[in-house]
Amino acid sequence: MSLVDLPLLPLGKGRDLDAERGVECPGDLPAASDPGLVERARAAKAALGERVFVLGHHYQRDEVIQFADVTGDSFKLARDAAARPDAEFIVFCGVHFMAESADILTSPAQQVVLPDLAAGCSMADMARLRQVEDAWDAMADAGIQDSVVPVTYMNSSADIKAFCGRNGGVVCTSSNADVALEWAFAQKGDGDAKVLFLPDQHLGRNTAVLQMGIDLDECVVWDPRQPGGGLTPEELRRARMILWKGHCSVHGRFSADVVDELRAQHLGIHILVHPECTHEVVLKADLVGSTEFIIKTIEAAEPGTTWAIGTELNLVKRLADAHPDKNIVFLDRNVCYCSTMNRIDLPHLVWALESLVAGTVVNQVTVDPETEADALVALQRMLDLPGKSHRD
Ligand code: 13P
Ligand code: SF4
Repeated sequence: MSLVDLPLLPLGKGRDLDAERGVECPGDLPAASDPGLVERARAAKAALGERVFVLGHHYQRDEVIQFADVTGDSFKLARDAAARPDAEFIVFCGVHFMAESADILTSPAQQVVLPDLAAGCSMADMARLRQVEDAWDAMADAGIQDSVVPVTYMNSSADIKAFCGRNGGVVCTSSNADVALEWAFAQKGDGDAKVLFLPDQHLGRNTAVLQMGIDLDECVVWDPRQPGGGLTPEELRRARMILWKGHCSVHGRFSADVVDELRAQHLGIHILVHPECTHEVVLKADLVGSTEFIIKTIEAAEPGTTWAIGTELNLVKRLADAHPDKNIVFLDRNVCYCSTMNRIDLPHLVWALESLVAGTVVNQVTVDPETEADALVALQRMLDLPGKSHRD
């Protein structure tokens, strides 16, 4: 296997701009120990004023999130980016697929900066366009392609979103996956519709089974590493949900036995998890929803209540700090940060902002016009989805 075929290059090394992958940082970063970093970030942001808009995903470090003009889950940040046509620079403190989506949703005059290009996403890397096109061809061979609507999670590269745009599909996020699936199943009038759900099998399965009432045995998993996805044409024909074999390496760590342990230790504990967790964990949870849902739930919780939260640790720690009147624990025995989200640290943010002040746009994320046009179709379908998610 060549280096290029590795699912993740060693972070910060090499160059593969076609994927959510590490590339070397071209600049001279300030030292992490520089005591003036906070002041430098503040000064650079003030110097840029309204020209810059800083977006921060909930999984970002505290040292970075303090400089975000808005924070949010990936759905909210996509909408926020689209709503600021006046900002010359969008500095995205998140991961590569989010910055790509921001580039697609903003005007050509606006420039999107990702402070560290090594902030990719291992889940997004699990679905490559070539693999998805092979799967699509296999669906044609099985005689079902006309019934299949592709739905991709926001956590995918721009070319996968473009594939969905070209093929009558849509993008979804963890806060609207149910509405997106309802939309997708309604696209084929004859009731025979199937969904190809990319790239997170867990979000796809949890939403289909728990929110759409689809049977578990109507869900099959397409494994891009197996010939024919590891499925027979008959299995494809019987399925309603064809789930791509991808997952989040952070949320995949939470396990059902820790839920049992915590329930035995803390009477009345509430288990609150993200839908990227496995089906087993979600089945044992009390509540499931996007990062925005998790935050709202904790904000509305009664003082004195106890919560175990299954999502990225930066967010859980921030919630615990912000709500000392509630007992908040992490749903994993071990530390579980998203290593790529954590690539965006204060030295990278300072470097990106100071470079903009000096007139140099560093680490710009751009999507080529053809991919952008098709991906925008799928993203716009998401933004236009009717109704509210059951999770709101
Ligand atoms: P949301 O922000 O949409 O909940 O997604 C979580 C996530 O894993 C982002 O990478
Ligand atoms: Fe990707 Fe998971 Fe990290 Fe989100 S938390 S960026 S899905 S690896």
